Amino acid sequence: MKILVTGATGQLGRLVVKHLQSRVSTDQIAVSVRDTAKAADLAAAGIDVRHGDYDDLALMTNAFKGIDTALIISGETDNETRIRQHRTAVDAAKAAGVKHLVYTSFIDARPESPFTYGAIHADTEKHIKESGLSFTLLRNSFYTDLLMAGIPHALETGDFGAPAGTGKVSYIPRNDLAEAAAVVLASPADHLNKTYDLSGTPVSFAEIAAAIADATGKEIQYTNLPPEVHTGILASLGLPGHLVEALTGMYTGTRNGDYNQTSDDFARIVGHPPQSTEDFLRHALANQA
Ligand SMILES: NC(=O)c1ccc[n+]([C@@H]2O[C@H](COP(=O)([O-])OP(=O)(O)OC[C@H]3O[C@@H](n4cnc5c(N)ncnc54)[C@H](OP(=O)(O)O)[C@@H]3O)[C@@H](O)[C@H]2O)c1
Repeated sequence: MKILVTGATGQLGRLVVKHLQSRVSTDQIAVSVRDTAKAADLAAAGIDVRHGDYDDLALMTNAFKGIDTALIISGETDNETRIRQHRTAVDAAKAAGVKHLVYTSFIDARPESPFTYGAIHADTEKHIKESGLSFTLLRNSFYTDLLMAGIPHALETGDFGAPAGTGKVSYIPRNDLAEAAAVVLASPADHLNKTYDLSGTPVSFAEIAAAIADATGKEIQYTNLPPEVHTGILASLGLPGHLVEALTGMYTGTRNGDYNQTSDDFARIVGHPPQSTEDFLRHALANQA
């Protein structure tokens, strides 16, 4: 069985390849990347590096040739483009004869999700199901890793601000999500046409602030920012409009309780629970205490 990972020069993709290497033999692993020069280390490790881009059906179809099971890692642009790109990737996989598709979806994959990228995932999930290929949908929660962006400001000011109210988010580390993807890719027959909610134990932002304080020995408190102040900060950073809209929506969803959900899918398929947010922060901040 030959397995292909798209987006293998990205952060999640690299981790998926790493976890796959300990589960299957190297000659079973292929990757599809936009820039093969960025994957020189993977080629040097004996991995079959192919050129692929979700914007190019013919190139992507070529990348999928001879592949049995493929992971499509979601892209990173605006909704209209990304919906088109993901459909292209699915169509290419089907044209190339891939048998099983695994996709990194999102825990709230609904067209009306306040996290606007949820609509992309809903469309891609539907397109995969309509393709007739066998599939596994990995409904990933938000990466715990994302919390690191707010740490420098929190350490400098003692203030961990977010427009989250008392809402909780079921953060899960990127590395755990990569391990779950590798488990599924290594034995797709065990995960045929399954949709998994991959999430950690939900935490509130007050709990996150307390965990940062515990990990660093600094006094940190959570400040519930007015949503419009937060959106203004995001816009002032020069982020693309679609990202500002999605991040604003993420906190609307958080206040609504949309991500305050627990699932044992991760532990069931991987065999151990995901790393807790407290433990993740303790390790990540060990050198800043
Ligand atoms: N669950 C979460 O909290 C969360 C957070 C952030 C993002 N995400 C989603 O999860 C995905 C993976 O996360 P990550 O941390 O690995 O993000 P990342 O480091 O930004 O990697 C994104 C990957 O997508 C690839 N890509 C983008 N456009 C592409 C295209 N047109 N054709 C082929 N490949 C394309 C990139 O290729 P290059 O290496 O060539 O740039 C890169 O490898 C993201 O793209 C995003 O959709 C989830």
